[in-house]
Amino acid sequence: MTGQPIPVIIDCDTGVDDALALLFAVRHPGIELRAVTCVAGNTDVDGVVRNTLTVLEQAGAPDIPVARGAARPLIEEPRSARHVHGEDGMGDLGLPAPTRTPSELDAVALLRREILGSPRPVTLVPTAPLTNIALLLRTHPEVTAHIERIVWMGGAVAAGNATPVAEFNVWHDPEAAAVLLTSGVPITMYGLDVFNRVQVPGEDVRRLRGSGEPGARLAGELLAHRPSAPDPAPDPDPDGDDPAGGLGDAGAVCAVADPGGLTTRRLPVEVSLAPGPTRGQTIVDLRPRHGESEIHDGARPQPLVDVALDVDVRRYVDLYLSAVEGRPGSR
Ligand code: BDR
Ligand code: CA
Repeated sequence: MTGQPIPVIIDCDTGVDDALALLFAVRHPGIELRAVTCVAGNTDVDGVVRNTLTVLEQAGAPDIPVARGAARPLIEEPRSARHVHGEDGMGDLGLPAPTRTPSELDAVALLRREILGSPRPVTLVPTAPLTNIALLLRTHPEVTAHIERIVWMGGAVAAGNATPVAEFNVWHDPEAAAVLLTSGVPITMYGLDVFNRVQVPGEDVRRLRGSGEPGARLAGELLAHRPSAPDPAPDPDPDGDDPAGGLGDAGAVCAVADPGGLTTRRLPVEVSLAPGPTRGQTIVDLRPRHGESEIHDGARPQPLVDVALDVDVRRYVDLYLSAVEGRPGSR
């Protein structure tokens, strides 16, 4: 690693894989985690705050400011993903309750303070529905000049998960995702196409679970968590005793520490806000040239996003393990 650590803020809905992302961000020497903000998504926002505080304590980082944010999407009712993340929203691991309370600032106020107060532009990593981020961008648009990049877990080029075409974080609050995409800030979209692929082999999960160090052991327990609904992610060792575990949201933070592990293309992306089966879809224009629509009706202005199309799985698994287990050589 060379140079100063990258100032990062994570906006999350902790969340099994959000917890994996927090553990990595706290432990990677190239990242300075300035704050964590919480939003309703995988579970209710109070559960997200509790889970986030617990993870930071287990990771040995109890002083990072945490703020409570939006309790529901801009327009719709909240719809949790407890069938994936457990009743407590973080794998029902029986972890102790946190010993501290969140910031007195709400999420938007903490985001503003930390973005404007950072000596260097901040990288924002939303791993959740975009409600807090949309409220921030509409309330304090001056922050955009102080954001280096938004590395966003959300969307999909191909298949969705919440619906056949919509990824959960976009589906939960499509209008908020549209605000993010039109913010003018450089965006990397770490969508389901890469998210689903980064799997930690079972033998590594087993080693983590057996660790005597609480943060590494928690990573192992989180990676071993299985949703009550069937998981479509491929297990590279389906006959083995130790199933692989997906890094999920943590892959987006790996992409901050090591952007070279992703293959991206700058492409037009928009969110379908229409009611019906396409609502929440990220429509990524992969066409090499204009089609009849643009020829006859003219091109519409559309935000360009660096869309992740491929990921070096082994590179991100190694990066994750070396940071969380405290081994030298984290990029
Ligand atoms: C996203 O939805 C949540 O369940 C995960 O934490 C991740 O952020 C994947 O669609
Ligand atoms: Ca998440």
